[in-house]
Amino acid sequence: MQDIEGRRALKRSEIHLWFAFPDEIRDPRLLLEYKKLLAPEEGEKQQRFYFERHRHLYLIARALVRTTLSRYTGIPAPDLRFITNEYGRPELDASQGDTIIRFNLSHTEGLIALGVTARQDLGVDVEDMERRGVSTGIADRFFSPREVSDLKKMPENRRRDRFFDYWTLKESYIKARGMGLSIPLEQFSFHLLDKDGIRISFDPGIDDDPGRWCFWQLRPTARHKAAIAISCDVGAEAGYGLELQKSIPLEEESDFDCPISNRSFILR
Ligand SMILES: CC(C)(COP(=O)(O)OP(=O)(O)OC[C@H]1O[C@@H](n2cnc3c(N)ncnc32)[C@H](O)[C@@H]1OP(=O)(O)O)[C@@H](O)C(=O)NCCC(=O)NCCS
Repeated sequence: MQDIEGRRALKRSEIHLWFAFPDEIRDPRLLLEYKKLLAPEEGEKQQRFYFERHRHLYLIARALVRTTLSRYTGIPAPDLRFITNEYGRPELDASQGDTIIRFNLSHTEGLIALGVTARQDLGVDVEDMERRGVSTGIADRFFSPREVSDLKKMPENRRRDRFFDYWTLKESYIKARGMGLSIPLEQFSFHLLDKDGIRISFDPGIDDDPGRWCFWQLRPTARHKAAIAISCDVGAEAGYGLELQKSIPLEEESDFDCPISNRSFILR
């Protein structure tokens, strides 16, 4: 376990990925402490969720973001201010001093993930593969023809797994770009190559360079998949380090381990 009060350092070649498991965090005293961290508008937004499980997820996500970013910036968690770009992507408000730390958040039933980098564009996506209402037929609408064709070739028993590989990777890319669904999902393709790792390609309509992106896939739990996208200014194979941590905000931090594919190397 780390010193929870200490300031966290982050090198330019590092990605720190923090997981929180909302179903494990139920101590009413702790939840009350989390509410004290929220900005007034966050408290109001939390109350507007109809279902308790959504209020809970939102509260833990805010607590994770505020306590974790406070560790990197030295700014007290309740004082952190955020701005959003025109597509809704939150960033730290540069007027409060720290302009180096970048982050991206993703939440789904049972899991929250927060990625942190020093300056690099980063996108994180987590998905619950047991989520209801999601069928692989969605691929016909949102995936590229190449991805759809690959999915159709998969044996039935592996198709859902592959579907979530594509889903999380596609989301991680559009989140790293920070432009949401203004990037047409069917105009870029992932190539999941056993030997050469994960590659991306773009239709002419998307002005981007495949060589500047690195991707990781993770399996944090049996039912969750996660993907990370980062624009690598040190070169795709130069060795980014991915450090995984589990957090119970304000209470405990510990190293976290899970299957990872297509990484450069693992820190620790
Ligand atoms: C909003 C969007 C950025 C992510 O949505 P999502 O996958 O449902 O949700 P996630 O939990 O992964 O991410 C939400 C978080 O991303 C961050 N975010 C919001 N807008 C963002 C943007 N433009 N870029 C990057 N991050 C963004 C926020 O922190 C948000 O959490 P918060 O509102 O609690 O602060 C957008 O990509 C979207 O609507 N995706 C759905 C697309 C889809 O239907 N895909 C189907 C198959 S690929």
